[in-house]
Amino acid sequence: MQVPRRLFLLPMLRFAQTLDRQLGAALERAFPAAAAAAIAAGRRLDPQLVAASKPEFGDFQANGALALAKSLQQAPRQVATALLAELEADPAFAALCLPPQIAGPGFLNLTLRPELLAAELRRRLGDPRLGVPLVEGQSAAARPPVIVDFSSPNIAKEMHVGHLRSTIIGDALARVLEFRGHPVLRLNHVGDWGTQFGMLITHLKQVAPEALSTADAVDLGDLVAFYRQAKQRFDADEVFQATAREEVVKLQSGDPVSRRAWQLLCDQSRREFEQIYGRLDIRLSERGESFYNPYLAAVVADLETAGLLVVDAGAKCVFLEGMQGKDGNPLPVIVQKSDGGFNYATTDLAAIRYRFAAPPAGDGAGWVIYVTDAGQAHHFAGVFQVARRAGWIPEGARVEHVPFGLVQGDDGKKLKTRSGDTVRLKDLLDEAVERCEADLRRRLAEEGRQEDDNFVHQVAATVGLAAVKYADLSTNRLTNYQFSFDRMLALQGNTAPYLLYAVVRIAGIARKGGDLGDGAATSAEPQAAFPDPLLFSEPQEWALVRELLKLDTVIAEVEQELLPNRLCSYLFELSQVFNRFYDQVPVLKAEPAARASRLALCRLSADTLKLGLGLLGIATLERM
Ligand code: ARG
Repeated sequence: MQVPRRLFLLPMLRFAQTLDRQLGAALERAFPAAAAAAIAAGRRLDPQLVAASKPEFGDFQANGALALAKSLQQAPRQVATALLAELEADPAFAALCLPPQIAGPGFLNLTLRPELLAAELRRRLGDPRLGVPLVEGQSAAARPPVIVDFSSPNIAKEMHVGHLRSTIIGDALARVLEFRGHPVLRLNHVGDWGTQFGMLITHLKQVAPEALSTADAVDLGDLVAFYRQAKQRFDADEVFQATAREEVVKLQSGDPVSRRAWQLLCDQSRREFEQIYGRLDIRLSERGESFYNPYLAAVVADLETAGLLVVDAGAKCVFLEGMQGKDGNPLPVIVQKSDGGFNYATTDLAAIRYRFAAPPAGDGAGWVIYVTDAGQAHHFAGVFQVARRAGWIPEGARVEHVPFGLVQGDDGKKLKTRSGDTVRLKDLLDEAVERCEADLRRRLAEEGRQEDDNFVHQVAATVGLAAVKYADLSTNRLTNYQFSFDRMLALQGNTAPYLLYAVVRIAGIARKGGDLGDGAATSAEPQAAFPDPLLFSEPQEWALVRELLKLDTVIAEVEQELLPNRLCSYLFELSQVFNRFYDQVPVLKAEPAARASRLALCRLSADTLKLGLGLLGIATLERM
């Protein structure tokens, strides 16, 4: 499903693709000379299919005649008429669209045959993929894996909101890619190596030696405090600095005592990270920076062989092409410092080399995605360039940095607690859930509903975490994002509670006796519960049909652009269209024939929302 960009945002991908082909062929038949010239130039005559600007104009609009008219020096309407004549002679086109009309200066309004839409909709009922195709070509097992490098917090430091963004966005992208049938390797590139351990171990030996020999002697909060003190001492005290450096060398050369201490520190942090991942339902394989330690020397050797290494003031560097510093000189990537030490960039070079290398000496990836804040854009641009010039990235492979903006507080400044500290993730998630519970209890009281604590806790946990995730995913990741509990927990607007509520509404229809075809008796053949053909008459029904059929295009777009917010916008739009339908058209009280078709719409709306939210890592509820 490599979808040409021109077809993005078009509803009903399968139809759009066919129509695009038919229109292209009709243009070629109508204007053979222009078509031959275009093909010779490596182009084609593009029908310029776009979505119709208003529902009353149909489904699509083809604008190709206007552009072509210029080069042919003909009137646009004349070109459109010739195109129309070719289309009318094509039975395949007639099977797909109602007779088209020329509009305005010369575009073609196209309306898909309603019976096709209804049939396509019916096919999707009970289909677990809801019409979204699997990635084409080899079976999943035979495809090179896609690596999504995300979350990646640092040991002995608290996971912060930037890591939370990476975790939420990375997980959603991994889910979409997995759903499409890519084998995905979710890698947690934990910062578990380097000078911070030298400082920390040296300091702990003096002030809290038990932390280095006994599991759980300190918790992560203490560790973070110890790390801060160690850093201060490191910056102020030369003797400490020297000892810390020796400690790093010991660790990196495998000294058993240092290794054991390091292991304990990592375990301690890991347990805390796991709690956050568990709460957020994140699967992740840890493969920290330390994993690449044995490969660092090979990086240097490879770069040496490739003739890329330059020694500059004692450090081994690669100078980047096309990337200059403020002074106008080319920027270096420092591969090995003058003291022989390696750094963040070296580890990333080793990682990229390993990820693209063929198994068993590497992952054999075909596509590697790095999800971090936009501040690391230069770092990755440098790493990618060096890797490319070193020949580590195979032909046709894809590598990209998926950057995101800062998380800001309500005031537009960097997110901080009231006392000015960085916000702890655990506290942030707790607060979302607590606020959600308070809102829920207030609502229950207002509505005079009785629910037990179990229900309240479960709903609050689900909605609270959903709200945090959705607020993050629904903003374009490139922009900074303002964290606001009030906004993300609102029942109205583009929020998780609004979408979850639409799912709850549909579950309510089933509770009131509407057969949604998901009962045990019919689950083997879910379509059997619904009439064939499905019958629709109201504009609200057709609007919902068309919205539901957009899912495959939206998924294709998210996969290619790596923008989860596109899926969010779609689900929001779908919820609104569903709510309009449900508020304005009777379902349970409708005549039997209309009722069953309307229930089919309800069923597919719920399934589409659940699937879409699931791809965002968000669980749904039957009641809230
Ligand atoms: N640990 C890094 C940080 O906290 C993120 C690592 C991202 N992945 C990578 N391969 N560099 O900023």
